[in-house]
Formats: sequence, C-alpha cells, structure tokens
Amino acid sequence: MSIKNFSVPRGTSDILPEQIPTWQMIESKAREIFHTFGFREIRTPYFEETELFARSMGQTSDVVQKQMLNLQAQLLQGDEEKSVHLSLRPENTASVVRSYIQNRLDKKEGLSKLYYLGAMFRGERPQKGRLRQFHQMGVEAIGPDGKTAYLDAEVISLAVYLLKSFGLNNFKLKINTLGDSQDKENFSKYLRTELKPRLSQLCPDCQSRFERNVFRILDCKNHDCQKQVSQINLDDSYLSSASREYFQQVKKVLNDFKIEYEVTPKLVRGLDYYTHTVFEITGSSLGSQDALGAGGRYNRLVEDLSGPDVPAVGFALGIERIILALGEKAVVEEKGLDAFIVALDQPALSEGVLILNELRLHKISSDIDYTLASMKSQMRLANKLKAAKVIIIGENELKKEVVLLKNMSESTQEEISIKNKNYSTLLNRIAK
Ligand code: HAM
Repeated sequence: MSIKNFSVPRGTSDILPEQIPTWQMIESKAREIFHTFGFREIRTPYFEETELFARSMGQTSDVVQKQMLNLQAQLLQGDEEKSVHLSLRPENTASVVRSYIQNRLDKKEGLSKLYYLGAMFRGERPQKGRLRQFHQMGVEAIGPDGKTAYLDAEVISLAVYLLKSFGLNNFKLKINTLGDSQDKENFSKYLRTELKPRLSQLCPDCQSRFERNVFRILDCKNHDCQKQVSQINLDDSYLSSASREYFQQVKKVLNDFKIEYEVTPKLVRGLDYYTHTVFEITGSSLGSQDALGAGGRYNRLVEDLSGPDVPAVGFALGIERIILALGEKAVVEEKGLDAFIVALDQPALSEGVLILNELRLHKISSDIDYTLASMKSQMRLANKLKAAKVIIIGENELKKEVVLLKNMSESTQEEISIKNKNYSTLLNRIAK
C-alpha cells in the first residue's frame, strides 16, 4: 500500500520561520502607520454567509462567479441540522461593512476608520503573484462624516505612504472616477453602445461580460479586446457636473500632497460596489499580476446591505505582491538569541537547565542543546542561532563553581562565579 505524501493545497504556501521576519517587519510598520493616520484595527471572521459577498461585490463580478471558495456544511441551528451556505472571505470590505451595520457603529461615531491585516481566499488559477490564499492589509473609512474629497485623498495617500515605507519606489498610482450610480449607469449604456458593433472581435470572456459586467471589458488583458477598447472615445461626458467637481477636488488635494498619479479613464475595477473615485497601484517589476493594491469609494454599499445611508472609501494592498516587488530588499535577518548554553556532561546539563530557566525568567532569550553533543557541534548550533553570548559548563567549571562566558562578536571569554547557585553576576554580564 502506498502512503500518500501531503503537500499544501495548490495556490497556498507555508510561511517558514526564516521568512517570518519579513512578514513581521511589514505588519508592524503597517500597524504603526495605520495608527499614525488615525485608523483602528478590526478583525472579522474568515468566513461569512455566501450571500453577503454576492450582494456586495455583485453576482456578476468575476470573484463571485468564478472564485468563491464555498463551505457547504450541515450545522446545528437550535436543535435542527440545517444546510448553511458560507464562503471563505475573498476580500474584507463586505465583512467590515457587515460588522459596521451589525454593531451600529454609525450611532457611536461620525466616521469609523478601520484597518485590517489578514488572509483572503479566492479560487483563482494560481500563478506568480496570484494565490488562492493570500494576505491583504487594508482600510475602510465609513460613516456620515466621510463624504469629503479630503478623505479620498487621505486614503490614497495612506496607500502610497505604506508602500514607500516598505522601501518600494517603482510603482504607479492610477486614478479614475465612475461618478455616482446614475453616472455609472450612463457610462455602462455608453460602453454597450460603443462595444456592440465590436462584440464579435472580443474574447469569449468579454462577450459574456458585455451583458453582465461591461466595465470589465475595459481592463481585459487580451490583445484584441485592448485594441477594440483603444478605439472607443473614453472622455468624462457620462459624469454629472457634481461628480466632475468632486473628482477635481480629490485631484487637487493629491496635487497639494505632491502625490504623483495618472488619470486612467480605462480604470473601472471589477467589483460592483464602487462609485466616484477608484484607484489602483501597479508595480513595474511584477509581470502580469502587477496590482500591488487597489480601492475606491463605495457610497451605496452600506445602504445596499440594509444599513444606514452612509458613504465609505477604502483600499487593500496585497502583502505577497509587496514582498515579490521588494525582491532582495524584503530579506530581513532573523533575530539571534541573547545566550546559548553549552553543557559538556550530565551534571553540567543539570546546572545548565537551571541557568536557562533563570535567564528566561529575566527575559533573556536563550536556548540549550539537551543532547550532550560534542563541543564543536554545540558551538555550531550556537552560531546558527546567532547567539550573542555562549555559556560553557564542563566538569572543571562545575568543580570551581564558575561558568565560561564567551562573547561571540568580540571573541573574548571570562569566568563568572555561580557560587551557591547565585546567578546574578551572570545575568548582569549577559544583559550588558
Ligand atoms: P482587489 O483589487 O480585489 O480589491 O484586491 C486588492 C489587492 O489584493 C490586489 O491589488 C492584489 O494586490 C491583492 N490580491 C487580490 N487577489 C489576489 C490573489 N489571488 N493573490 C494575491 N494577491 C491578490 C479588494 O479586495 C477590495 N476589497 C479593495 C477595497 C477595499 N476597496 C475598497 N475598500
């Protein structure tokens, strides 16, 4: 009988200990910057009712149509087992809005500025930069006080600031506006009129998008579709004067903040909930999956999910893509230990374990090798663990009631008394 070897599901990956310092650097910088911009963390469940995602991103969006990872389960509800339709979250905007409504945050504050870091799940075909489990950091600013172009600019500048502080410079910010619901409707009518005579030239995907999500045709990567789209005149005539004025204000604040951007009329985003400002940040070193992050305003979504009529704006950045774009710059060294104990025989090991316990109780990071391996192999381990100091205990040291303390960077060593199991001098020398 052959025994199955398990590996991670396709499109997911393990993040191993040596990669963790990079993740921690990115996460801790992000938390610090979110705090600087006045955002507070929110954590929502990793799964929600399937319908929440369908209603927010739109039944016809690619994410809902093709990429949802559904959990179908028979679960107890009261005394009865019922079949429930849950899905792993493909993004977090819907969940945050659900939580905003459920917890009546509009009654508690005029503007809820929320951020999150965490895993998202999409059943996409995996490729470089496109995973089935990936991680986002993002913000959502929701509430009655949020209907101002300053907030669009604040959120966009936050995304740019985050990327810069991770060390990224090679990226481009593209912005556009879809206008309000009526403008969007006008825009989609205009696109259908323009694209109808070209329908047979479009890829099969876009032919089906024509009815269900005509905007998506604009950002299709297929060469023929791009050629057809380039022949359409994309001016802003579908916008009302109020929407045009709003976008002007957003751009003005971005100019004042000295944030470089490119107005891209083809940028429409694939999720139904956007209104007014939309933006995307692309990295030049990323290949076909080049979006480092994206976001925009969604003034109708809270009400569409049966909440109050409040505006909102947000974005999410993909952490794996940030790490890919950083390349070598993403490598962060693992932290070494303060001390490593080398015990050369059984009585030394008994003493060493006591010292180890004492070091740890004093918050000195430390470890030991329990195997009584050779001095050489224990020193190799101490080096691998990047120990700053090594405490060596052998037969002679025990007899004299001392230990040898080796400073690894200076290659010096000294004898330190541990008479009557008093480790205070040792602790002081290590903490120095
Ligand atoms: P999104 O454009 O679907 O927007 O995703 C945002 C970012 O998540 C992408 O630009 C990319 O960096 C990363 N990402 C998405 N899918 C994958 C994947 N399969 N593998 C790796 N990375 C991926 C949203 O999710 C919206 N919720 C953003 C938002 C927040 N809009 C308003 N508020």
